[in-house]
Amino acid sequence: MTADHTPGQNRVAGQTAIVTGSSSGIGAGIAKELGAAGANVVVNYAGNRDGADAVVRQITGGGGSAIAIKADVNSEADVTAMFRATVHEYGTVDILVSNAGVQKDAAFVDMTLDQWNRVIGINLTGAFLCARAAAREFLRRGMVPERSRALGKIIFISSVHETIPWAGHVNYAASKGGVMLFMKSIAQELGPQKIRVNSIAPGAIKTPINRAAWDTPGAEAKLLNLVPYKRVGEPVDIARAAVWLASDASDYVHGTSLLVDGGMALYPGFADGG
Ligand code: BGC
Repeated sequence: MTADHTPGQNRVAGQTAIVTGSSSGIGAGIAKELGAAGANVVVNYAGNRDGADAVVRQITGGGGSAIAIKADVNSEADVTAMFRATVHEYGTVDILVSNAGVQKDAAFVDMTLDQWNRVIGINLTGAFLCARAAAREFLRRGMVPERSRALGKIIFISSVHETIPWAGHVNYAASKGGVMLFMKSIAQELGPQKIRVNSIAPGAIKTPINRAAWDTPGAEAKLLNLVPYKRVGEPVDIARAAVWLASDASDYVHGTSLLVDGGMALYPGFADGG
C-alpha cells in the first residue's frame, strides 16, 4: 500500500472514517488508502454489496479495520442509522469523506425530473445529510488532542464541474456547483468549532462512472485533449490527496477545493487558440 506515514503529520491512525459510495471507483480507492494509513474505515454502499465486501476484505487483509454499511445517502433515516452503527462499532467518527455520486446524463430539453432529482438528491442532498450528521457527532464527542488538532474533518469529493460548465450533464454540474458553495459556507460556519472542511475536485479519473470516456484507445485519446498533463487519473491520485486532507499535515487548509485533475481546469482549448 502507498500511504505516507510521516511521523506526526500525514497520519490518520486510530481515527474513524466514513467514506460514502466506497464500493467502487474513487470511493473504494479512498477507503483502501485510509485503511492502509491506519484508519478504521466504514465502507458505505447503496446497492453493490459485493464491491463493498471486497474493499473491506482488502483493508482487513492488510491488517486494517473496516466494516461495510448499507445506506442511501439521500435518506435521512439511512444516514442517521449509518452514523449510529459507526459510533456503536468504533466509538465515534473523525473523518467524513462525502464521495457518493451519480451521473444521469441527458440533453437538457429531454431531461426528466427524475434524472434531475436523483442527481441532486445523491450528490448534493446526500452531502448535506452526511455532513450534518458528521458535524453533530464531532460536537457530541468533543476534542481528542492526541488524535487530531481538529474536532473533525469533512472532505467532499466534488468535480472539476463545480466550476466547468458541462452541456448534456446540467444536473451533475448544478449538483457539483452546489457542493462547492455548500462546502465553503459550512467551512465558514464550522471553522470556529475546529471542524475542518474541504473538497477535492477530481478531473477525469478511470472509474465506472465515465468508462465510455476512456476504455477504448480512441476515447482515451479524445479525452486526453482535455488533460494538459496527458494521462487519465487513477483513484489512488484522489485517495492520496484525501489522506493528506484528512490528516493534521493539512491542518491549516480549510474551506478550499483542491483540484486533482492533471490540469483539466486550465482551459486546455486555449493552448493553441484564443
Ligand atoms: C465526471 C466524469 C468526467 C470528469 C471530467 C467527473 O466529475 O463524473 O464523468 O470524466 O468529471 O469531465
